[in-house]
Amino acid sequence: MIKNHSDLNFKEIFLPYLVWVSHLYMVGILAADESTGTIGKRLSSINVENIEENRRSLRELLFCTPGALECLSGVILFEETLYQKTASGKPFVDVLKEGGVLPGIKVDKGTVELRGTNGETTTQGLDGLGQRCAKYYEAGARFAKWRAVLKIGLTEPSELAIHENAYGLARYAAICQENGLVPIVEPEILVDGSHDIEKCAAVTERVLAACYKALNDHHVMLEGTLLKPNMVTPGSDAPKVAPEVIAELTVRALQRTVPAAVPAIVFLSGGQSEEQATLNLNAMNKLKTKKPWSLSFSFGRALQQSTLKAWAGKTGNVGKARAAFLCRCKANSEATLGTYQGNATLGEGASESLHVKDYKY
Ligand SMILES: *[C@@H]1O[C@H](CO)[C@@H](O)[C@H](O)[C@H]1NC(C)=O
Repeated sequence: MIKNHSDLNFKEIFLPYLVWVSHLYMVGILAADESTGTIGKRLSSINVENIEENRRSLRELLFCTPGALECLSGVILFEETLYQKTASGKPFVDVLKEGGVLPGIKVDKGTVELRGTNGETTTQGLDGLGQRCAKYYEAGARFAKWRAVLKIGLTEPSELAIHENAYGLARYAAICQENGLVPIVEPEILVDGSHDIEKCAAVTERVLAACYKALNDHHVMLEGTLLKPNMVTPGSDAPKVAPEVIAELTVRALQRTVPAAVPAIVFLSGGQSEEQATLNLNAMNKLKTKKPWSLSFSFGRALQQSTLKAWAGKTGNVGKARAAFLCRCKANSEATLGTYQGNATLGEGASESLHVKDYKY
């Protein structure tokens, strides 16, 4: 679909595409794209067996929460979920579309170690990606996600890891655009470590600068992409700092590296607690400085943790779980406007850290 990003009249050619893009960041995104292995860890934490019916039930609980879709503009799905239906037989894709929410799809195939590095990784899934994108588009997906992972260490991230992951993301983004999907570019710098926030800021700037060089080299139309970065925070083993500090250093790192052509930045929550992630996003939207992009969320764990706990796999708890989910959705949609007042007190465990050391997805 996207032929040449330098076409002078690309806005006309790509109008339908850009309409979805602008829809996609009107509020925020629920990342419900956990792979079968990852969702298994979440389910086992509440003693629920990792079988298709339980995975489907959890997703139905989320997508059919009354009022929740109004606080969201996109939901990222795992391949299995893209083809699943509610208990009464309605495809999830239709539930989302009717709720005014675009279905998206995780298209990467996980990470593998880069030989000769200290546990750094690259992301797999480029082979056959064009055909998969075309198939997902047919099934109703309108955007995609690819997660690259970097880590902070004494000598990490290495130039090799930065380069390899930036060009992987760029090639993925180009393939998505050729097939009509909006690519979400996710270079996640893990929070693990005892580094301070300035170190995280410096690494985030290096990584994002490399990503935009690669995206430009690959002729990706930036207007038709979203960025899903980590927030700039101290390492998980370092003293905490206030949301205002995180907001200032995060926005500064973005100002230095993310072109104004990028319409929106949808943060990942990493290992932050639900409440922390919301407060940080709110602080960024309250910050008075130059912000040419929308700042929003694409949260997974930070939107689902208290819901999972409240549900515990029991039909009788669905109402309580939905109330917790709606509460988090509302809080985050308020944070995109900088109007969140810290009153999302419903869910049990909303302030619990979700960080797991050396977490493997
Ligand atoms: C917090 O309170 C305000 C004012 O009463 C309300 O508009 C808002 O929706 C509440 N937010 C949450 C997340 O409950």
